[in-house]
Amino acid sequence: MSTENKILVPEADPFFYVSRETRNIIDKIRLISEKKPVNVLVTGRQGCGKSSLVRQYAAVYNRPLASFQIGILSEPGQLFGEYTLREGETSYKPFLFPEAIRTDGCVIHLEEINRPEHPKALNMLFSLLAEDRQVWMDELGLLQVAKSVVFFATMNEGEEYVGTEMLDPALRDRFYTILMDYIPAEVEVEVLVKKTGVDKEKAEEIVDLINKLRGNSQTPMDVSTRTTLMIGELVAVGVSIRDAIIYSLQTDRDHLESILLTMHMERKDIDAELASEFVLFR
Ligand SMILES: Nc1ncnc2c1ncn2[C@@H]1O[C@H](COP(=O)(O)OP(=O)(O)O)[C@@H](O)[C@H]1O
Ligand SMILES: [Mg+2]
Repeated sequence: MSTENKILVPEADPFFYVSRETRNIIDKIRLISEKKPVNVLVTGRQGCGKSSLVRQYAAVYNRPLASFQIGILSEPGQLFGEYTLREGETSYKPFLFPEAIRTDGCVIHLEEINRPEHPKALNMLFSLLAEDRQVWMDELGLLQVAKSVVFFATMNEGEEYVGTEMLDPALRDRFYTILMDYIPAEVEVEVLVKKTGVDKEKAEEIVDLINKLRGNSQTPMDVSTRTTLMIGELVAVGVSIRDAIIYSLQTDRDHLESILLTMHMERKDIDAELASEFVLFR
């Protein structure tokens, strides 16, 4: 069995937009990373471009990228490897993480760092993120972070996360923090046109509706750029904006109806529409 883990430089997104401030600070972070250990925490609402920012950083600066879901970790050593039983013998099989931290210039993306399943799951990361950048493991010996490695952690922050566990202050202390938010309307229109091929008028209409939902005073919704793009993809292949919204927003039927109403879209009968006629799928 070949478990050759490839840590590759990702391809750049030709239509990824960030604010000038973010662009500038990112450049400085790259400079620091050549000389000193640096960790960056990117926070913002779901789908506002956090993961894309990390990916784009790696792509633009020609660095290999390795991503790890911290949100699913339930014990401290889980990132590093596991014991396996083969022909009655137990042996330790390292995962991608130890390889990534020993890869020069690697961009290491720790996703959902605020939500590990077990509070102690981050223990070993603490030492790696500290100035001396090393940790001792019985199984792998002294693990030392290679030069110019940058740790990027991302976490979703937004209304729906208020009340869930925030990042341990001792951990947060080790990061520069970049706050992201949804891109401005004109930029989102541009992204829609460029990435999905919808025409500009339709893109403007979509973004306008989405921003009404985001800013709705009674029931504001977190509609991500990812969702806007999904709507755009449907509209680009001929689906009406109304239907594209129905199929892309994750919300219940009643809420959807009231949304369509406030958007002055005919509510028709969503039920009837979704179940009107049955045809063979063949
Ligand atoms: N600023 C942006 N410019 C272009 N595309 C964006 C931007 N923000 C988000 N997107 C697109 O939206 C989708 C979701 O972005 P992602 O980075 O996965 O969000 P997050 O990690 O914050 O949940 C991706 O397809 C990404 O290309
Ligand atoms: Mg993400």
